[in-house]
Amino acid sequence: MVSAISALWLLLAAAFLAALLLELLQAPRAGLGARLFQDLIRYGKTKSGCGQRPAWLRLLDVPKRWFSHFYILSVVWNSFLLLLLIQALFLSRPFPVWLQNLLSALGGASQNQDVGNKHLSVLLVLMLLLLHSFQRLIECLYISVFSSGVLHILQYCMGLGYYIVIGLTVLCQVPANVSNGKVVSLNHSIPFGDWFERVSCPHYFAELLIYVSMAVIFGFQNLTWWLVVMFVLFNQALAAVLCHEFYVNKFSCYPTHRKAFIPFLF
Ligand SMILES: NC(=O)c1ccc[n+]([C@@H]2O[C@H](COP(=O)([O-])OP(=O)(O)OC[C@H]3O[C@@H](n4cnc5c(N)ncnc54)[C@H](OP(=O)(O)O)[C@@H]3O)[C@@H](O)[C@H]2O)c1
Repeated sequence: MVSAISALWLLLAAAFLAALLLELLQAPRAGLGARLFQDLIRYGKTKSGCGQRPAWLRLLDVPKRWFSHFYILSVVWNSFLLLLLIQALFLSRPFPVWLQNLLSALGGASQNQDVGNKHLSVLLVLMLLLLHSFQRLIECLYISVFSSGVLHILQYCMGLGYYIVIGLTVLCQVPANVSNGKVVSLNHSIPFGDWFERVSCPHYFAELLIYVSMAVIFGFQNLTWWLVVMFVLFNQALAAVLCHEFYVNKFSCYPTHRKAFIPFLF
């Protein structure tokens, strides 16, 4: 039977696949539902691609620089989970009851079952996730230069929820412009160099590879993690398609051989 956590990832992956297909098939832009759809799939620079937005929609905007909140939350929450996991693995201290109940409601097995290699995989993936969040936080605080881009409040809540649920998903697998640099411009320009020569969004492609590599650590056969990978695949593919469209519309000289997301393919 599919666990609650797998069902959640399946649903999210399916929702982003549907949104990606709708967008590729030229979803309508007029009408209330279409406007809301466009507002929910776009953020930051690609929001300008759906024309002038009504005032009531703009009321639900939060600054895109709040992306850093995702990683602050992720660092704090996933450090906490890592601490509990280390205590459980090396000091035989059980998870708190509320966490045991939560994990079993989500479909995770009890931590008392089958202590083996899988525990080490979970430990490694949780540590990598934490490292990844920490690196992303540093990037948000000291490297990324956010202009006036915005997110829909639901996208913001989803980002916060994502980093809570991703840590829990890992635990369910237990058997049982630099700050001292000069900002040259706040305008978006055509990125060049390295993987940008092949695709418009190599950072989204790298994100996918990070999650695929975690699936490798889980031994290729962890269905729930592959559902997480599918979610990241469709979610990042959608963002990449919108970003690619943004560049093609904005820059008449945009390199025609560049794909949006996956080199040579898509
Ligand atoms: N796992 C997931 O589900 C998930 C979901 C979302 C994002 N992410 C990851 O989070 C990271 C950041 O994502 P993002 O969507 O915020 O990336 P992004 O839109 O490319 O923005 C990253 C930074 O680069 C700037 N920027 C973007 N395009 C630019 C251009 N053409 N010229 C100059 N500056 C430009 C942005 O400024 P502006 O903000 O002013 O555009 C921002 O400071 C990525 O690595 C992505 O893979 C992961």
